[in-house]
Order: sequence, then structure tokens, then C-alpha cells
Amino acid sequence: MSSLVQKYNVAGPRYTSYPTVPYWEENSFTKSDWESSVIKSIKESNQKEGISLYIHLPFCEAMCTFCGCNKRITVNHNVELPYISNVLKEWSLYLALLDETPIISELHLGGGTPTFFSPENLQILIDGIFKNAHKAKNAALSYEGHPNNTTKEHLKTLFELGFNRVSYGVQDYNLEVQKAIHRVQPFENVLNATLNAREIGYTSVGHDLIYGLPFQKKEHVIHTIKQTIALKPDRIAFYSYAFVPWIKGNGQRGFSQDNLPSPDEKRAQYEIGKKMLEDAGYIEIGMDHFALASDELNIAMETKKLHRNFMGYSSSSTQAMIGLGVSSISDSWYGFSQNVKSITEYKKLLDQDQIPVYRGHLLNNEDLIIRKHILNLMCHFETQWEKNGELYFKEIPDILISLKEMEEDGLLILESNGISVTEKGRPFVRNICMAFDLRLKRKKPNTQLFSMTI
Ligand SMILES: C[S@@+](CC[C@H](N)C(=O)[O-])C[C@H]1O[C@@H](n2cnc3c(N)ncnc32)[C@H](O)[C@@H]1O
Ligand code: SF4
Repeated sequence: MSSLVQKYNVAGPRYTSYPTVPYWEENSFTKSDWESSVIKSIKESNQKEGISLYIHLPFCEAMCTFCGCNKRITVNHNVELPYISNVLKEWSLYLALLDETPIISELHLGGGTPTFFSPENLQILIDGIFKNAHKAKNAALSYEGHPNNTTKEHLKTLFELGFNRVSYGVQDYNLEVQKAIHRVQPFENVLNATLNAREIGYTSVGHDLIYGLPFQKKEHVIHTIKQTIALKPDRIAFYSYAFVPWIKGNGQRGFSQDNLPSPDEKRAQYEIGKKMLEDAGYIEIGMDHFALASDELNIAMETKKLHRNFMGYSSSSTQAMIGLGVSSISDSWYGFSQNVKSITEYKKLLDQDQIPVYRGHLLNNEDLIIRKHILNLMCHFETQWEKNGELYFKEIPDILISLKEMEEDGLLILESNGISVTEKGRPFVRNICMAFDLRLKRKKPNTQLFSMTI
């Protein structure tokens, strides 16, 4: 495995979208095209499963120095209500585009830290969203909770509002690693947050773990996974640490590349973690995720209904995903857009009755086909096409030639009308997707844009 790690450890996208954000054609994107694509997509989604809504709640009380998310650090909770009223204003601007009431089948509160907000204020937010929207039967409502500040009141209020899934950031249980990443979080806090959620009736509790963190060693991963298994969360995200210090203002600091485990050590951390999770009955879902057999993510994988979007893996494949809040990304299937990142700018645009999007991309036919292949690979570890059929494109023969070496390395099997990724090739799925990424191939980046694939 070691030589494969060395060979394939390159900078590469995580493919939460295709085209990936640095390859969006921002110059040809207009807000009016974006709005038209949203109207079309919501109309189509309303006929099917409904839409997804992502709401970005950016505040955190303290800065974890490993974190790559878009966040604002403050201890001033007076920021909550003005922010909520901006998010509701943004939602009203989307509603004004439509001549029908949207059906929400998936809603996720992400951050930052959604549980920074008081339960009362989160209730105001959710009531405001559903005032002019229908909730689909079996809608999946979920949020990210910080184990250090998710109270019983948060859990109860959100459960009564229809939330039945919560995921907690755990990362690593070793105190030295926690100190290095400025996130001291005792096991008891995760234990209480998990038990409280179960007692209240949440059907899915998730834990987020990371391997490859600064100063993290294999024994820390083993200890963390043991502690995690003891609490038996329904889902576990086991993320590869993304070190992206060049992203402006993300706060990754206090350590350097030298403090990170080597690519081989990092791979060994993943391998041992994966084995322990599988031995404990977890099933690997796509990339970075594990779930118990009973969890909907696993059922979706088995029935080939697994989907991937900016929120990660999901069991419902909604076509339209509207992202509200600073820096949120929306996906109408025909296009992507991203909101401004500054809260001041966000408010300013909303005060002018403008949807606060600052960049985006409209997909052409080639993008739509490649997007399907990349989704297939990321979700099902295989993809197929028919010669001259809907998913065929003229570069396929060249792609097959470029994948020959990966086949020789045992990472995939090439067929005349498709490819399938082998068990050995799964850790390299990002590299395999890169072979289909024509935009990346046509214009190689001059500087490092993406985290390393391993
Ligand atoms: C928005 S945060 C979680 C919610 C909450 N703020 C907390 O910290 O508990 C979502 C998750 O993204 C993951 N994450 C953040 N930065 C990362 C990075 N640079 N590489 C890999 N995973 C990262 C962490 O596992 C984190 O729990
Ligand atoms: S890990 Fe969570 S709490 Fe820490 S800075 Fe990132 S978003 Fe905030």
C-alpha cells in the first residue's frame, strides 16, 4: 500500500460538486440565469421528492485551529436574532420567485455551530422557514451540534420541531491532540450529548472523527475509535484531515506541515480505524463515512439511492438544494451559486432585496454528463455508459487509456462500457474521479487549490 500512497497522494478535489468550485465559469454566470434555474428546479422537485434546504449558522464561541469551515468567532450572542432575520429575508426572496409553495424534504443546519444559537432563537428560525413551505412526509431534518454546548433544551426544542438527526463534532479524544487543535472536549460531554439525544427520541446520532490531525498518532485514533464504538453512534464520519492553510481567514494555525502525520502514517490511521469500525458492525458508505446496517445511509447505498451534495452523503436525492446564510452554496442541478462570505455584505445585499449570491456556474451538457459519472463513482464506486448513449462523451476512450495504469495497480476494473472500483481502489476514488474531470485536465492549476487525496 505504501508505494501506492506515494504514487497517488496528489492535490485533488473532494467532489462535493462537479464542476468543482475553482472551475466555475464565474464570468458567464448571471443572477437572472441563476434565478431561472432555481424556479425550474424547484418546480420539478415539487413534483418529485421536494427540495433540500441548507442553513449556514456561522458563529462559534472559540476557534478550533484545525477547522476548515466558514465561521465567525464571538461570545456576543446578540448577533443571533439579526442573523436569523437576515436568513428569513433571504428565504422570502427565494419564495418571491415562485408561484407555488415549496415542499421541503430535507433541512440541515450547519456551521459554524448551530447550537451557538439559543433554542428559542432556533425555534424562531425554523417556524419562519415553514411559515411559507410544506414539510414533506418523512422529511429529514438534521443539525450539527457541538458536544460542549448542546443542551437538553436544544435537543428537545429541535426534536419537537421535527429534527430527528444530530451529528456531533468529536475529532479525537486525546487531550494532547485536543490542546493542539484548541478544542478540549471531554468524553463525558459527548457521552451526555449522545445519551440525551437518544433519550429524547433522535433516530440517528452521528459522530464526526478526523484522522491525519496535527500531532495525532495511530494509538490516538485507536483510542478514539474504541471510545466511539462504546457509544454506538448510528453514523460516523471518519474524515481525512484537509490541511488548506492558504484559504483566507480559515484560522488553521499553530502547527505546520511538519506536525502532521506523513501520508503513510495517515493512511495507516485510516486503515486501522476502518478495520475497527467494520469489526464493530459498521459499513463503509462512499468516502469517509460509516453507518450501522439499520441506518438510512446504508439502506440508500444498498438500494443505489445514495446521493452526494455539498452537505456530504444523503439518502434522498433531491434535485434542488437551496443554501441560505453567509457562504452557503446552492445547487439547482442545472447550476451552482455561492453566497457572499461577509455578514456585513450579506446584510447589505438583503437590505437591497437582492439574493446575496456573488458567484456561480451554469452547467453545460458536458458538465451534466460528467457530474453523473462523478456522482456514480463517489456514491456507488462504479459508473457505466452506453456507446453513443446519454452518458457517453467523446473523451471516454482517452479516459479508459488514462485509467489503464490504475487497473494495473489493482484499483479498478475497466469494462468496455464502464468501470468499477475495487476494494483496494476505494481509498483512491478521488484520484479516479480526477480522470473524468475534463475541466481539471484542460487547465491544471498553477497553485495548490485542493487538499491532498490521501
Ligand atoms: C461545522 S463542523 C461541526 C459542528 C460544530 N461546530 C462542532 O465543531 O462540533 C463540521 C465537521 O467538519 C469537520 N471538519 C472541519 N474542518 C475540517 C478539516 N479541515 N478537515 C476535515 N474535516 C474537517 C469536523 O469533523 C467537524 O466536526
Ligand atoms: S470545528 Fe466547529 S466549533 Fe470548531 S471552529 Fe469549526 S465550526 Fe467552530
